[in-house]
Order: sequence, then structure tokens, then C-alpha cells
Amino acid sequence: MSVVSIIKQAAAKAISDVYKVEIDPVNITVSATKPEFEGDYTIVLFSLVKQLRKSPDAAGVELGNYLLQQDTELFSSFNVIKGFLNLVITDSYWINFLKANYSNESFGIKQSNGKRVMVEYSSPNTNKPLHLGHLRNNFLGWSTAAIIKASGFDVIKTCIVNDRGIHICKSMIAWQLFANGATPESAGMKGDHFVGDYYVKFNDEYKKQIEELITAGTTKEEAEKQAPIFKAAQQMLVDWEAGKPEVIELWKTMNTWVYAGFAETYQKIGSDFDKVYYESETYLLGKDLVEEGLKKNVFQQDEDGSVWIDLTADGLDRKIVRRKDGTSVYITQDIGLAVNKYEEYKCEQSIYVIGDEQNYHMKVLKLICQKLGLPSADGIHHLSYGMVELPTGKMKSREGTVVDADELVDEMISISQHKTEELGKVKDFTAEELKELYNTIGLGALKFFLLRVDPKRRMIFNPEESIDFHGFTGPFVQYTHARIKSILRKFSGSGFQFPVSDSLLKLEKDLVLALEQFTAVIDEAATEHDPSKVAIYVFNLAKIFNSFYTEHSVANAESEDKKMLRLQLAQLTAQTIKTGMRLLGLQVPERM
Ligand code: ARG
Repeated sequence: MSVVSIIKQAAAKAISDVYKVEIDPVNITVSATKPEFEGDYTIVLFSLVKQLRKSPDAAGVELGNYLLQQDTELFSSFNVIKGFLNLVITDSYWINFLKANYSNESFGIKQSNGKRVMVEYSSPNTNKPLHLGHLRNNFLGWSTAAIIKASGFDVIKTCIVNDRGIHICKSMIAWQLFANGATPESAGMKGDHFVGDYYVKFNDEYKKQIEELITAGTTKEEAEKQAPIFKAAQQMLVDWEAGKPEVIELWKTMNTWVYAGFAETYQKIGSDFDKVYYESETYLLGKDLVEEGLKKNVFQQDEDGSVWIDLTADGLDRKIVRRKDGTSVYITQDIGLAVNKYEEYKCEQSIYVIGDEQNYHMKVLKLICQKLGLPSADGIHHLSYGMVELPTGKMKSREGTVVDADELVDEMISISQHKTEELGKVKDFTAEELKELYNTIGLGALKFFLLRVDPKRRMIFNPEESIDFHGFTGPFVQYTHARIKSILRKFSGSGFQFPVSDSLLKLEKDLVLALEQFTAVIDEAATEHDPSKVAIYVFNLAKIFNSFYTEHSVANAESEDKKMLRLQLAQLTAQTIKTGMRLLGLQVPERM
């Protein structure tokens, strides 16, 4: 149990014993003591005084005395300042904590509690390759899943591939028109890029046709509907739904190309899934649910045959769930998917990592599922995130000027090579080791920078800044890890068997206090679906270690027992950084 939880429980018990008042420990506020006061943790008394019928100061003194008497192992002294009870924790408590954990490779990680959580992320469309926004999505999803798992849940990582619909028909039509039978192989291209290019070609041709029609006197609105290439794509979708063999054939072929491309990117960025859903397999279930909704009177049919749900009473709009031609819309597919997910896995929480432009969609989805009385409804959570841009400006997809994920990853790896060579500390590395190191640093920089901010916030990704070895970056933390490992390597033979010092200096204590918070940080990040909490934590931990190490030598410690204590501190710090970074999807080098 974390020291904060222990203090809360001890305080609740003290209040019960002294004042005969029962308070749930979770309702007691315990925070780190402000640096200007003496103490490690502080109980905030204001919220309690009403129930205790005491002034905060009087209650503080009584509770402080009682706690000190009850647990001499934990508390060494206390003081009360303006309604805050500041508690000093004994050095021996921290030293025992260190002893119990310094060689524990799963420090911070909880055992399974048997409850299930599903995290859906990435969920690409099969008409174009992944871009910078997908990278933020993939990193957030993967990391949130890892963090929730570390906090004790069984996690199912999933992805819904939007493999059917008008978007892929557009790429297919353009391929038929312009490719002359070319394949990714014949073109020497990654399959997702190859298919994406035809999506761009579709749009170029579509624009041209619209202009021609406008020049010939058609209105813009009419031209958009009448352009032959657009009508061909619509027809193709109808043919696809009807199962026309040559359309299905082409669809399968082009999707296979795309999947091969995606697989390569996922492999490179370290994304993986336990279960992949395909929209082509879930959208029909959504259609059935529309019938059910009509029967239950949750949906209404208009005269033209289209089906709607009226959400005005909930402060939203009327929303279409089935078009008049009987085709389903995005939300219909998602209702079907929600049911599928729940039937297969019965997760108590189902998290969707999707950009904030779909906030409305996700609100509607949850609401419709609730109104349909689906058991999956209440567990639906939208992990919404803001757009990422480059310092050079926005990313736009129609014009084909998106920030491509593969290109960006390659660029990061080459910047990392450049920076590492500049630093000149890798002269004895083999070519193989260097390659791995550049990958680790380049991808680490990218992931850390995208994860260190609150997911909800829009952000600008700055490649140069992200790789700064002295900044709030992945490489800074990676470098600190390598540095600690190099200290530890010098002692690998001698072990840690000697008795350790029984008192702590200020900077030693700062470090052990920070280490002790790791589990609580993981829990908080898991509950809030926010990996930035872990990123900020590992960064601060690395800084605290560096301050400690600047002042205190390990090799030339004042005494043998100080040396042992510091070795344990260093080892647990390296381990904690490694685990924290792993939860963010980053590797940490042994040397760099
Ligand atoms: N493929 C969709 C898009 O690119 C995202 C799907 C998100 N997941 C979901 N269940 N709606 O916009």
C-alpha cells in the first residue's frame, strides 16, 4: 500500500478512536508537505473540523500526538501550521521500503484483479496511409492500455478497420481508371501509400470534373453530385453491398495491399492489437439494431423511409441512423461494434481513442446505446485528443500534404543519428547496436513528446525540440537511465549485501519519496486515461536523480553503508524509469 493510503487509514482510525467519528479514508486529503514547512506528508484538516467540532489547530495537535503514539515505525514527529498537520516519516520506513523493492523488477506493477477493460485505438480507414494524427492516437492507445494493465486490469487492445464505404470505393475507382494494372510491387511502393495515392488521384480528377461542369453552367452543388467519377464511386458502393464478384475481388486485393503497409508501420512504431474488427463484418449488425430500435420506439421513420433518433431533449440534434436508400451511416456501424465488443469480451469499460472532432459522435453513440438499453452503454468512454500540427503549419489530407507517419518516423531516426554522433559517446558501438540505438532514441523522442501533454490539448510537434538531450524529452530520460546503468555496472560484482545506512540525507530522501509514488501515479494515469501523468513522473524522477547524483557520489560515498544505500537508490531509480518508459512504449538503452 502506498504511504499516502497508509496515512489516510491511520488518520481515519485516529479520528474514530479520538472523536468517535467515522470518516472514509478516501475522504481525507493527504498531500506532499510544502517545501517551506517541516514534514513529508500533510493532512488537511479544514474539511474535517465541522464533523470533529474542534478548531483545526486543536484537532491537529490531538491527532498528531495520537498518530505518533500509535505508529512509531511510521511517524517520527509532527507540527501543525494553520490547519495543516505536517507529518515527518521516519527514515527507517523509507529504508525498509527501499530494501523491499530495490531488486524487484515488477516494482509498481499490480497483479490482475480479474476485471476487463477494452482499449480501441488506431482504427484506420483503408484508403490512405497513417499520418501524424494516427501516431498520437496509436501512442495514446497503446500506452493507456499498458498503464491500465499495470494498474491491475486485464486489457484487450483492439482496432476497428474501416475497410468498407465510399472512401475505399474512391481509391478503387481511381485505380481502375489510372493504374493500368500497377501493383505496389510493380511500383516499388508500400501498399498503403500506393492505395493512398489513388485516393488523391480520385480527388484531383473529381475536382477537375466539377470545374468542367461548372464552366458548362452547372451549379457547384449539382456539379458535386453529377461528376461522373463521383457517381461511379457511389455505384461501386452499391455493387459492393450487393456482393458483385469483381468489385469484391478488387476490394479484397486493394485492402490486402493496405494491410501489408500498415503492418510494417505498426511493427516499426510498436503498435499491436489483441483483436482486430473489420467494419465490413460489423456494419450489418448495426442494421439489425436499427430494426430493434424502431420496434422499441427509440428510433422513428420519416416519410421518405429514413430512420432517425431525436436527441433534442438531451440537448443534441436529430440524428440519422439509416439513410432512405437503406444504407447505414457511421453511427449505425458503431452501435453494432459496441454490441459485438461487449458480447465477445464483457468488458466493464470500453475506451475509444478518437480525435476530438468526433466528440459529438461519441456522445451520440453512448446516448443511443443507453436508450436502446444495451449493457455495453455505460462502459463507453471517449479518450478524446486534440490535433497535432508541425511548426510549419497544419496538416491537410485532401491536398495530399499530410504529415506522413512513415516519413516522420524515418526523419526522427535520422535526427537521432545526427545528434548522437554529435555527442560522440558511441565510438565503440557496432553498426547493429548503433542502428538499434538510433531507433530507440528517434522513436522515443517522438513518443515521449506526443505523450507528455494532456491528451485533450492541441499540440505542435517539434522534431528538433523533442530530441533535445537536456529538455523535457524522452532522450533526456533515456540518457539518465543509461547514466545510472553505467554507475551500476561498476559494482556489478560486489552486490548490495552490506548493511545500508540507517539515516537519509535530504536528496536521498527526495529520491526515495519520489520512487514510492510510482504506483499511485500509475493508478492515477489509469483512472484518468492520461499517459502524460507517467511521462511527467519519469521526467521528474530523472531530474531528482540527477540532483542527487550531482551532490552525492556513489563510488566515493562517505561510508560503505552510504554506498550501499545509494546503490539501492540508483538501482530502483533505473528500474522505475525503465518500467515507466515501457508503459509509454519507450525503450531505455543500457548505454548511449
Ligand atoms: N476510422 C475512423 C476515422 O478515421 C475512426 C474510427 C474510430 N472508432 C470508432 N469506433 N468509431 O475517422
